[in-house]
Amino acid sequence: MAYPIPLVAAGAGEPWPPELVRAPTARSRRLADMCGIVGYVGRAADGKALDVVLEGLARLEYRGYDSAGVALLDGDHVETRKKSGKLANLRADIEAHPLPASATGIGHTRWATHGGPTDENAHPHRGGEDGRLALIHNGIIENFHALKGELLASGVRFTSETDTEVVAHLLAAAYDEVGDLTEAMRGVVSGLAGAFTLLAIHADQPGVVVGARRNSPLVVGLGDGATYLGSDVAAFIGHTRRALELGQDQIVTITPEGATITDFDGTPAQGRAYEVTWDAAAAEKGGYATFMEKEIHDQPHAVRDTLLGRTDSDGRLVLDELRISEEQLRSIERIVVVACGTAAYAGMTAKYAIEHWTRIPVEVALAHEFRYSDPVVGARTLVVSISQSGETMDTLMAVKHARELGAMTISVCNTHGSTIPRESDAVLYTHAGPEIAVASTKAFLAQITACYVLGLYLAQLRGGSYADDAQSVMKELGEVPDKIEALLGRMDRVHEIARFMADTRSVLFLGRHVGYPVAMEGALKLKELAYIHAEGFAAGELKHGPIALIEPGQPVFVVVPSPTSEHGLHGKVVSNIQEIRARGARTLVIAEDGDDDVVPFADEVIRIPATAPLLAPLLAVVPLQVFALWLSTAKGLDVDQPRNLAKSVTVE
Ligand code: F6R
Repeated sequence: MAYPIPLVAAGAGEPWPPELVRAPTARSRRLADMCGIVGYVGRAADGKALDVVLEGLARLEYRGYDSAGVALLDGDHVETRKKSGKLANLRADIEAHPLPASATGIGHTRWATHGGPTDENAHPHRGGEDGRLALIHNGIIENFHALKGELLASGVRFTSETDTEVVAHLLAAAYDEVGDLTEAMRGVVSGLAGAFTLLAIHADQPGVVVGARRNSPLVVGLGDGATYLGSDVAAFIGHTRRALELGQDQIVTITPEGATITDFDGTPAQGRAYEVTWDAAAAEKGGYATFMEKEIHDQPHAVRDTLLGRTDSDGRLVLDELRISEEQLRSIERIVVVACGTAAYAGMTAKYAIEHWTRIPVEVALAHEFRYSDPVVGARTLVVSISQSGETMDTLMAVKHARELGAMTISVCNTHGSTIPRESDAVLYTHAGPEIAVASTKAFLAQITACYVLGLYLAQLRGGSYADDAQSVMKELGEVPDKIEALLGRMDRVHEIARFMADTRSVLFLGRHVGYPVAMEGALKLKELAYIHAEGFAAGELKHGPIALIEPGQPVFVVVPSPTSEHGLHGKVVSNIQEIRARGARTLVIAEDGDDDVVPFADEVIRIPATAPLLAPLLAVVPLQVFALWLSTAKGLDVDQPRNLAKSVTVE
């Protein structure tokens, strides 16, 4: 039987005509929820569940924001409330119609592509005839169609179009048989295919939340007389910093006293305990109007903290976190960087530096392309994945594939306890702190910094002409945070330009060498934040086609390399500016302090502090981030939660 996926016509907001609605294919079914999940159990009468869950959802809203819901245990029954739209809608509804005080609750904030963002499809979903069970879910149940067919045939009625509701009914039926939620969860997960985090409560088991995870994030927070679950630690950071990392294919049962963990087969397991090093204030806006603005201003810290502790008293690089032997690292013949979006641009930037310092060939592949391209990698290939969240499914799949092919894998990651570092041979953490705004800013700078540290470490390890330069480059890198600080202090003109340009329909970005990924990152920021057509090009490529786009008044940002760059690169980009200016482009030129060659050809010069050419991206990207932030603001758009996006892309 064909099971229709309700599709929504882009822009029109109207459903497609029925004849165009099709049965799901394996591919379309992969599209599902990428969501934020919270669970809480406190002592019997603590009455805090609703507040804790709503606070957690507010901190996780960046993961998805097209509907939200909560379920609370109230005496001998379960209360649920769910609303389409942002969390504010749910809050307003609860304010108008208050929910009972409770000590046990779960909550969910959703990013949907499958089963539209309606009240009905919002989580939690109820299971069983009497709705005594409530369930929330992040991920995809790939075999939901077959399971649903069986449930429909046995007379179960569905109230939503989600795959999640199937699990709610299965779990309720299993509970009726075994009388224990943990046992029931164990019985059900073995029959599910796909990636999922599930949290459930049952009216007959107050003081208990049961969770399960496979290829989808879930962490435990340990408080005093209260225990928490969250998609990441932000969910409970306002209450405790003591966290437990769960392994793959595990079930966790939380009570006010703590957490019990087993594998899916019932074998007892231990979570890895760790202390979260940042506090609740780091996940707040700190006086800025948006998280993005705050995170742009966090960038000096992000770079500084990522550099901390990387050298010994002799100034030699030490990477304690790397669990790959020096001998293995010396044997590397090739590096492949796998990442997506902004993280991939960090990888492209790092390629220039790592190749220059180590002479090891570096290839940068979009993770989703790498995974399905029959890649040529083996025991002497080092696959470096870059991911802020550590949960991006495309990147995770690329890493797993690389390991299957025998490659060494290192994860450059910002999130402790996340899946990609766990699935890699080694990890190099960036220390940018929590990044909440959906558009990545400080993580980008931290990723470039960490990759540079890795490149310098490899250069030092393998000897060669740049081995001795590692210390001087580290010193220059150490000066970058102060330069970013100074640069942020002179962004007023960029702010003004963004306001003037609020009606602009298209912006182009040009760069060469390390300025090329910066140009692409500038374009990406503008697309995702201001919904403006934007393209980043290698400036040398202009005359091979894109120059045809230049017409009078077309705004073009040009990232100019330092006059100290090798091979006369600076002069070549100055010529590129002249070429587009001659055709009427409005040129917005990002150039080093003191670079006067650009002045005659620039409508605007945006100055950045001088630094070594390879380090310039850490500065040149900042005005582009600021420009996108203020243009989006000038258009009245939601800077932190742009349309159609979510922070962690946990589906392929
Ligand atoms: C853009 C942006 C995305 C992410 C990409 C990878 O502003 O944030 O392009 O960079 O989705 O995400 P992570 O780094 O979490 O793997």
